[in-house]
Amino acid sequence: MLITKTIKDTFSELSKIRQKNLKIGFVPTMGALHDGHLSLIKQAKKETDYVVVSIFVNPTQFNNYDDYVKYPRIVDTDIVKLEKSKCCDLVFIPDEKEIYPEPDNRYFDLGYLEEIMEGKYRPNHFQGVAKVVTKLFDIIQPDKAYFGKKDYQQLIIVKKIVNDFKYKIDIIACDIVRESHGLAMSSRNMRLSKTDFHNAKIIYETLQKVSQWLKNYTIEETKTLVKKNIETVNPFKVEYVEIADSETLLPIENISENKKMHCFVAVYCNDVRLIDNIEIKL
Ligand code: PAJ
Repeated sequence: MLITKTIKDTFSELSKIRQKNLKIGFVPTMGALHDGHLSLIKQAKKETDYVVVSIFVNPTQFNNYDDYVKYPRIVDTDIVKLEKSKCCDLVFIPDEKEIYPEPDNRYFDLGYLEEIMEGKYRPNHFQGVAKVVTKLFDIIQPDKAYFGKKDYQQLIIVKKIVNDFKYKIDIIACDIVRESHGLAMSSRNMRLSKTDFHNAKIIYETLQKVSQWLKNYTIEETKTLVKKNIETVNPFKVEYVEIADSETLLPIENISENKKMHCFVAVYCNDVRLIDNIEIKL
């Protein structure tokens, strides 16, 4: 496994790969790798010839400076995990100056997608994601790029960017990997105490009840039930609950059996913010 830190080295290595007509799979990450990340990397290895992983804690996508400072950084452990997986051919670990030699003032028109759910509660977050993802796509120029459904809104926004900017990249959506008690794996889970980590199972337990609740209650009542059920456990506080169309992410007003829908939540456990979602099956 090759480790690169500069765009120049990454570019020259990947141009050799492209000359051999090998297909490049790309998994962008912010590190503190867990089995969720590794599942994307394994899928990339199955579907492409050469897998590139990036590790970069992107400052422009953090709307909360404290969250950025506290974001776990364990690059040495990450490298060991990647080596062990035998699924990563190149890991690109740039520093901030490499990605942002000067301020990136581009504005991305993400429309209403930026005004709902994560966009609404994390102002500018998706502008930062768009900046870094386009920079990384331009450097790596992958054939396929892998994104987790855990960050479902990010996945939809990346698809929009690929479409709007006509990138020739297949965006592959990967299933959410969970802890054995159901909590969606996340680098931020490391910041939970042992008790909070255990109790955080309430989030997925609640999401699993949503389809049934929707058979007996209105959408508004169901959303209230989700909030109440999660908040029965201390110190969990729901920031938002939404039931939305799985493709457009627009809030659902009337339940219809032929519409694909998801329920999305963001939950605070003290200062740790957790997000999760589930597909609704009626
Ligand atoms: P990060 O949170 O490190 O996640 C990297 C990728 O792993 C994302 O596509 C995310 O959806 C996926 N992922 C995280 N947890 C997962 C889980 N439990 N199951 C399945 N997939 C999971 O998302 C980012 O980084 C950044 O925003 C990034 C795209 C790298 C841009 O900076």
